[in-house]
Amino acid sequence: MANAPIPLIAGNWKMNTFHNDGHQLANDVAERMMNRMGPPVDVAVCPPITIAGSLCAFLAPTPIKVGAQDCSQLANGAHTGDVSAEQIANLGCACVIVGHSERRRDHHETNELVRAKAEAVHRTRMTAIICIGETQEERDAGKTIEVVTKQLEESVPESCHSGNTVIAYEPVWAIGTGRTPTSAEIAEVHQQIRDLLFERFDYDGFAIRILYGGSVNEKNAHDILRVPHVNGALVGGASLKSDTFWSIIEAVPKPSEVSAPVRVKA
Ligand code: 13P
Repeated sequence: MANAPIPLIAGNWKMNTFHNDGHQLANDVAERMMNRMGPPVDVAVCPPITIAGSLCAFLAPTPIKVGAQDCSQLANGAHTGDVSAEQIANLGCACVIVGHSERRRDHHETNELVRAKAEAVHRTRMTAIICIGETQEERDAGKTIEVVTKQLEESVPESCHSGNTVIAYEPVWAIGTGRTPTSAEIAEVHQQIRDLLFERFDYDGFAIRILYGGSVNEKNAHDILRVPHVNGALVGGASLKSDTFWSIIEAVPKPSEVSAPVRVKA
């Protein structure tokens, strides 16, 4: 029996917040975090890049990490409007979300590009939060496992290990819709992701955190966070209010409530 990884609750603020409300939100969560007595949990917020630098400085004395929502795969040069992983690391960020379905959809990001972005994040010693997930159409066609397997195989670079990588399973149809898969449906996909990580990274694959994302809120977090191989949540809308984000953090299970069975490699 191995220890399950410490859960990670990460807030993806997307294209929301300005300087003042973003700092207020971060301050509210940080104050509660500093006085918290609950089971171990890691907390990160991923604000827009416009305030990531000032939030890094503001949150530096707290346990809350700051992440970015995307980065270029390139290190520097004539690429107007792009921001490199090196520049993000220089702000003091600890992690970067790559391959979010909104970027795959709005900017036609492919698995290959997502992998290159994850490599860029690793180059700077930050953590890549690599997102995968099926569309409604793909789920209806019974292709969820096939799609997620292909995305994982193609988006996850060889440079991954449990210290620099988090996988986020976010079914596209559950994002911002208030609809979530059942616990059994989440368990099926997370088990598949775990098996693939184990095949590829051996026992370290058990320590790579797999987050669930898509309409996580204060009502469903308790159950979702207890599904086998769910090691935390990537939270969108509910991370924009400190009360709801805090309720999700408080729903994290005690280590004794989580089993992480290790199987012997065939
Ligand atoms: P919601 O929690 O708003 O559904 O968003 C999930 C998400 O996309 C997090 O990255």
